[in-house]
Amino acid sequence: MTWWRRNQTAAVAAELDTQVVEKEAVEEPADQHPLLTVESVERTFQVGGQPLHVLKGINMELRPRQLVMLRGRSGSGKTTLLNMIGGLDQPTKGHIFFRDLPFHSMSDDDRTTVRRKQMGFIFQAFALMPLLSAYENVELSLRMAGIPSGEWKSRVEHCMELVGLSKRMHHRPFELSGGEQQRVAIAKAIAHRPRLLLADEPTAELDSQMSAQIMSVFQNIIRTEQVTICMTTHDPTILEVADHVYEMVDGRFI
Ligand SMILES: Nc1ncnc2c1ncn2[C@@H]1O[C@H](COP(=O)(O)OP(=O)(O)O)[C@@H](O)[C@H]1O
Ligand SMILES: [Mg+2]
Repeated sequence: MTWWRRNQTAAVAAELDTQVVEKEAVEEPADQHPLLTVESVERTFQVGGQPLHVLKGINMELRPRQLVMLRGRSGSGKTTLLNMIGGLDQPTKGHIFFRDLPFHSMSDDDRTTVRRKQMGFIFQAFALMPLLSAYENVELSLRMAGIPSGEWKSRVEHCMELVGLSKRMHHRPFELSGGEQQRVAIAKAIAHRPRLLLADEPTAELDSQMSAQIMSVFQNIIRTEQVTICMTTHDPTILEVADHVYEMVDGRFI
């Protein structure tokens, strides 16, 4: 982290009532087992009877508590890859292992079970239920994940605190700024304690200050919730906070 970035992150964290801890403090031993491995993955779609090669031999890994970014222009294949990492789609060729589970060969139902319990998703447009308060939105995800109702209140309050929105818990989405809505979406995505959080262009609709707040929240939850985050972006200014950046051009990493 550069001096400028560290200071900016500190200022944002102060605003969010969170603490900035140096990244070195949470770094894992280098030999730690990966959470997810992608091996020689290809994805081809049939478009008008012709094969469209979208991913052309992707290799990557996500280690525990890493913040990993997939960067590339629109159309380069980022969302296609993220969907496969999340078990929403399967490769045409190659292997994907999530904690030793072979996503490339598992059934849809089995992947869905793993996904519901162990993964959280954040999208560009915040995907909140408009008629529910921030609190109720987060509570809904605990209900859907089958968490016992006795645990909901403390967990919702904890997650709202993690994203710096304790004071806005009872607001509905339209009463919140874009950045605040995205922080509710993060609280919702981590409420059931996933191991892996996947975020598809989570800052694309936000200005640079709100984007910096989202990145600060991500750093905070990696530390406190032991989660791994993989996100896509085409914003060069936020890459500095990543532990690793994979640069994608036309279905390949360069
Ligand atoms: N289900 C699909 N069927 C056909 N083509 C697809 C499908 N999904 C993605 N594509 C194509 O794959 C390419 C990469 O898309 P995408 O992964 O969404 O890129 P990015 O997220 O980097 O913008 C695009 O040309 C897109 O049109
Ligand atoms: Mg995309």
